[in-house]
Amino acid sequence: MLVEKRNAGRYAADFVKDGMVVGLGTGSTAKHAIQRLGERCKKEGLEIIGIPTSEQTKVQAEDLGLNISTLDEHPVIDITIDGADEIDPELNLIKGGGGALLREKIVAYHSKEVIIVADPSKMVDVLGVKFDLPVEIIQFCSTAIISSIEELDCSADLRMDNNTVFKTDNNNYIADCKFHQISEPYSLSRQLNDIPGVVENGLFVDMVNRVIIGKKEGVEEISIE
Ligand code: A5P
Repeated sequence: MLVEKRNAGRYAADFVKDGMVVGLGTGSTAKHAIQRLGERCKKEGLEIIGIPTSEQTKVQAEDLGLNISTLDEHPVIDITIDGADEIDPELNLIKGGGGALLREKIVAYHSKEVIIVADPSKMVDVLGVKFDLPVEIIQFCSTAIISSIEELDCSADLRMDNNTVFKTDNNNYIADCKFHQISEPYSLSRQLNDIPGVVENGLFVDMVNRVIIGKKEGVEEISIE
């Protein structure tokens, strides 16, 4: 899927115009978009301000010499380019495979336009069929929080990183939740976020304007106006 990810990422980067504030997503597909933005800044003299959605992305952006800032300093983002783990026909998403879902959701929420870049394997008929839903929870009483999540009819596992518990950039844990299929993502998202100790979940509902699916040659563009 390397070529597909590359084609999607690089194509999406060309939507960025001079002077824009750009949300920089996380993951192996968004990485190609950021790389291309770095190239455009050098070759075309494009001037942008990047708002990274993770520490990993911040390092990549800094290495490329991009101007980076924070949402607090630039509260309105023109375009965010990010990846996804699953995309349904309404362009709702599961995100958080890399553990960056909280910052990704905050950045997407404050963006005028959200472009998702992905390879064809990410398209599904119903969310949850292939990918477990990541839910960011606080460390305190994590076992009890996970039990409450499981009352919503799923099985949930604390994400591990080799032999230690995985920690997000916000020093929280991730519970990966197997729902098998999520037919009502908006209502599930609300139910999850109502559980004390849940910080945010990886369902992105009604947040995306455009999806770029990379192919071996070229891309397919799906948009909702
Ligand atoms: C990061 O937490 C995620 O939301 C990623 O954007 C998502 O997992 C897609 O990653 P890839 O582009 O690496 O498949």
